Amino acid sequence: MRTEDPRPILLKEYSEPDYWIDEVHLDVALDPEAAEVKSRLSVRPNAKRGAKNALRLDGEKLELMALSLNGEPLGPNRYQVDAQGLTIMDVPDAPFTLDITTRCNPAANTALTGLYLAGGIFCTQCEAEGFRRITYMLDRPDVMAVYKTRITAPKSLAPVLLANGNCTASGDLPDGKHFAEWHDPYPKPSYLFALVAGDLAHVQDSFTTASGRKVDLRIYVEPGNEDRCAYAMDALKRAMAWDEKVFGREYDLDIFMIVAVSAFNMGAMENKGLNIFNDKYILARPDTATDLDYANIEAIVAHEYFHNWTGNRITCRDWFQLCLKEGLTVFRDQEFTADMRSRAVKRISDVRTLRTHQFPEDGGPLAHPVRPDSYIEINNFYTATVYEKGAELVRMLHTLLGAERFRKGMDLYFERHDGEAATVEDFLTALADGGGLDLAQFKRWYGQAGTPEVIASGKWDQAKQEYALTLSQISAPTPSQPHKEPLHIPVETGLIAEDGRDVPLHLAGGAAEEDGRTSRVLSLTQREQCFRFTNVAERAVPSLLRGFTAPVKLSVNLTDRDWAFLMAHDSDPFNRWEAAQKYATSVLTANVAAIREGVKPRKGEGFAEIVRGILREEALEPEFVAQMIVLPAEQTLAQSIGQDVDVDAIHEARESLRASLGGLLKDDFLRLYDAMRVEGTYSPDADHAGRRSLRNSCLSYLAAGGGEDGLKLAKQQFDSADNMTDSMASLTVLAHTEGPAREEALKTFHDRWQHDHLVMDKWFALQATSPLPGTLDKIKELMAHPAFSLRNPNKVRALIGTFAAGNQLRFHAADGSGYRFVADQVSALDKINPQVAARILGAFKSWRQFEPGRRAHMKDVLERIAAEAELSRDVYEIATKTLGQN
Ligand code: TRP
Ligand code: ZN
Repeated sequence: MRTEDPRPILLKEYSEPDYWIDEVHLDVALDPEAAEVKSRLSVRPNAKRGAKNALRLDGEKLELMALSLNGEPLGPNRYQVDAQGLTIMDVPDAPFTLDITTRCNPAANTALTGLYLAGGIFCTQCEAEGFRRITYMLDRPDVMAVYKTRITAPKSLAPVLLANGNCTASGDLPDGKHFAEWHDPYPKPSYLFALVAGDLAHVQDSFTTASGRKVDLRIYVEPGNEDRCAYAMDALKRAMAWDEKVFGREYDLDIFMIVAVSAFNMGAMENKGLNIFNDKYILARPDTATDLDYANIEAIVAHEYFHNWTGNRITCRDWFQLCLKEGLTVFRDQEFTADMRSRAVKRISDVRTLRTHQFPEDGGPLAHPVRPDSYIEINNFYTATVYEKGAELVRMLHTLLGAERFRKGMDLYFERHDGEAATVEDFLTALADGGGLDLAQFKRWYGQAGTPEVIASGKWDQAKQEYALTLSQISAPTPSQPHKEPLHIPVETGLIAEDGRDVPLHLAGGAAEEDGRTSRVLSLTQREQCFRFTNVAERAVPSLLRGFTAPVKLSVNLTDRDWAFLMAHDSDPFNRWEAAQKYATSVLTANVAAIREGVKPRKGEGFAEIVRGILREEALEPEFVAQMIVLPAEQTLAQSIGQDVDVDAIHEARESLRASLGGLLKDDFLRLYDAMRVEGTYSPDADHAGRRSLRNSCLSYLAAGGGEDGLKLAKQQFDSADNMTDSMASLTVLAHTEGPAREEALKTFHDRWQHDHLVMDKWFALQATSPLPGTLDKIKELMAHPAFSLRNPNKVRALIGTFAAGNQLRFHAADGSGYRFVADQVSALDKINPQVAARILGAFKSWRQFEPGRRAHMKDVLERIAAEAELSRDVYEIATKTLGQN
């Protein structure tokens, strides 16, 4: 057992720092094992805090070489060093200068936070608390300083030297060394500092801002990858133009740089003027990247760029305010993608993400508010709740205010807080003032965890010609929040007449300007409310929560017939998709129950007939059709079943419905498979990608339907594909079916791509998702593959993460073998990279929903991990919180 449990940090204990630091001058001499950092800090006592006369700086894994104050070296009696920092006694109560020299070891830094050397590139990652591994600092986001950075390095080791801001000087030095100096004029918190050095090639372009300034754009990559940067560059320019047009935000430095590296803990990082990316989200060529990769690149390049205003110019006062930049920036990137591609498809895919990642988090032991009030390790709070639910909260504000007033509120937010470290309150006040709406009740969304349930029931009164819709809301208790207040929930609503047309809505007591519209946003603010629509002359089916206007679970007493009707007729595309999901879930959960009782599952002919109608509706975008026909994921089904989950029955039910649809709709699938063929040069745009997507879902259904057709087509497609999307889709079909074609295809793919690390990740991940019984043994074998390494997060995520989070059937094997394997990897990884280890451990968060045997196995391994002697704060927090109180 541990002797000292880490203490949680609390929001209510926030106070301003005792000192401000206005300038940071860094002089970094790079060396793989002993990088030397000379830091000159301009320190100023915080008048509000009164005289303190001791300065405490954060610092970890540093070797202190020298320390002086106002030019006077300090003897050992003037300061104390411990594992977390440096305390300097008797500092002046007027501004002073500190000179600190430290050393760190980039080559030994496998945690990939601070300054690290990986793949021959020196690189930094400072968010959230990595700067303290570079030098001693007040490493907190409300301390904002102007940074000047000088880098020196042997030219042979690092021909390219980059840091934030504009390059002000560079040149050669004796002994084969050289230097570069960078100056970032915008004050920023330490978490936005960045430095990159190494042998990097770059592609270059430029962007002229609305006010006519020309910005130099550069993407730095490993030499040889220059031909994979074009799409990222194009996305960057579109994002820059979009932010000017939609939010009125211009870029503010002369140069904007992106660096792609292969060892990175997350997706990307918005360091001022020098974004650093996981190369998976930059590098793309038609033969190496799928359509999904292209879409992710576009979204993440935009996301990081958008942070320049939401995150950098206005930053967070403390880490509890993380959603202030992340939720808002995710909302912005979602809107960007909606404008670039299909709004309906984007909404569907965002809601799918929310449901598969955020809902389980919010309904389990790791539930926390969008603005948490306590944490042990901040890195554990870069969660689906902070990002995705955080974006939903901003979207609700957008819905409630409308586009115009939302923009007014945003303008006011930028005007008031530019250059500041702000809070969620600041944001809401600006939106309330600028948009003219009281957001006092809305604010509860930021503090209350859990997914609310909205229960709807509607009744048409023929005599009164009135449709009465009763909405109520329930929020179940979550860890440490037993009681919940009612929330302000926007529910966009329509009524659909039996002929399939929308009924004009006259809401008793509703806003005049909305009267007669066919879709209205209802504000549910009480525990229960009744909305009356007058002049409703006919029976109607309600279409509720159109566009998914709130992150809630909606229960409504509709039948499969109603879902079928909505699938065919709803004018809101999101709700057409939602109806398909509801209908499919209803068939599937009934079949899961049947299978568990030893009864044969239903074939779903009724559902198939409606799907057939969709497949024949020619006016629909192909990608929308593809979304309409995907069955809910096994994890989503597990969630909607909620307790005593039996993963084998779920898998069987889903596969048997897929097989039955594949058989019943075979002709339509074959017809579309041909019709959706894309001719000519590959383009990653939404149109072409949508056709490939629908075509590949047809392929997958044809294979599921049995017979030789599907597999034959898959084999043909695999042999002839000229792009990675079609290649992977056909390989997936082949690899998930036992037989010689499987082994042959996997080997062909391997031999072709074994030297391409990003493509190899796909090859690893594909095998980790296999439903075949030998999957775990195969994964163990693959860990010995030369391309695999526990030190590279992408590899770990591809093989182990995908298995734990994406292969419900095999991870949850009844004998507990999947759990033990993943737990062993988490233990090993914790010593290498705690952030990544903690993330993988997150796969256990829903352990209480499973049937007793599996639950017991999961509890065992969690307890074993929690009891380990030397655990990182990261893994300790996830393990103990997942286990919970009892
Ligand atoms: N701020 C980054 C983003 O969302 C994500 C991030 C946070 C991150 N911590 C990180 C990235 C650590 C890499 C490593 O854009
Ligand atoms: Zn972000």
